[in-house]
Amino acid sequence: MKISYLPLRELNARFFHLDQQSFTAVSDSGQYIGGKYVERFEQQFGNYCGVDKVVSTGNGLDALTLILLAEKELGNLPPNAKVLVPAHTYIATFLSIVHAGMQPVPVDVNNLVLSVKDLKSQIAKVDAVIAVDLYGKLVGDEVYAFAKAEQKPIYCDSAQSHGAISSSGNRSGSIARASAFSFYPTKNLGALGDGGAITTKDHLLAAMARKLANYGRDNRFLNSAKGVNSRLDPLQAAFLSNRLAQLDSDNNKRLLVAQFYYHHFKNDHVTLADREFLNHNAWHVFPVFVADREHFQNYMLENGIETNVHYPVPPHQQEAFKELNDLNFPQAERLHRTEVSLPCHPLMSLTEMEYVVKVVNNY
Ligand SMILES: Cc1ncc(COP(=O)(O)O)c(C=O)c1O
Repeated sequence: MKISYLPLRELNARFFHLDQQSFTAVSDSGQYIGGKYVERFEQQFGNYCGVDKVVSTGNGLDALTLILLAEKELGNLPPNAKVLVPAHTYIATFLSIVHAGMQPVPVDVNNLVLSVKDLKSQIAKVDAVIAVDLYGKLVGDEVYAFAKAEQKPIYCDSAQSHGAISSSGNRSGSIARASAFSFYPTKNLGALGDGGAITTKDHLLAAMARKLANYGRDNRFLNSAKGVNSRLDPLQAAFLSNRLAQLDSDNNKRLLVAQFYYHHFKNDHVTLADREFLNHNAWHVFPVFVADREHFQNYMLENGIETNVHYPVPPHQQEAFKELNDLNFPQAERLHRTEVSLPCHPLMSLTEMEYVVKVVNNY
């Protein structure tokens, strides 16, 4: 049996007819930047997340960067703010901070995503925090409460957690002061190209981010800030509207796969994240941890199962972040060394799940 890690073509084929209609509608509209399809998606995504402001952007990295730039422009963060960030994340989180002219302050993570324990030693030294819902797992409400009590603004990199619901019943995107989403095609809510969005309840922050995403302009000919050009295409917005209607059911299917794995995996060489990980998770990635990753991945592939890694080299060890290369974050480094992502997507059949279990248990 062959099992692909993420059958993107098949996942998108489900929307083929709707997308064809969207293409015709956008093409007929004569408006190819902004306009009603972008506004409609922003409205729909805002309703879905439970916020009244959505600022769509060209991608997730821009969404993160624009949150920080907007806060700087509004005077809510100093120009070279120190921003606490988990050492276990995708490099985009770190890059957004430097692109905003600020300094990343990485901290080690005890349990895959930030906890209060991880924040404690550094919180007094930073101006703000970016939490990351890595693998789709929401950072706990207590982390937000702690940052609030310390009077530090906390933002969220929600690029992997579309649709997840917190213990207090709030949707990803409505928990932090502002959240950044990516609609990269492999995400749980993915476009047919690049896309991103900022969600927030703060009207001033939303207005400033929108202005900065559009050259910093106040009107057609007057610009009062040095902005960038970062926009979601109407075509992508229309495709995303088609997919948003399916997100809850897709996430439920991912959860079923994850629960099945937790229930049936029995192999001491393959470690799962602790069971708490099953809660408040959109299951963008199903991670397991294996000492000899290369051997395990080859074994899985020999048995027809494609796997992935999120991510092999942590940001602080990348050449791009030479200035951080001397830092040590043992937990994050171990996660980066041992993580393997297993197929966990909405189209998996019971037979496929059973096959993955059989192969993993025989390792
Ligand atoms: C955790 C995280 N942050 C940020 C991003 C950046 O998103 P994009 O690729 O849309 O710029 C991604 C996705 O690639 C991500 O996984």
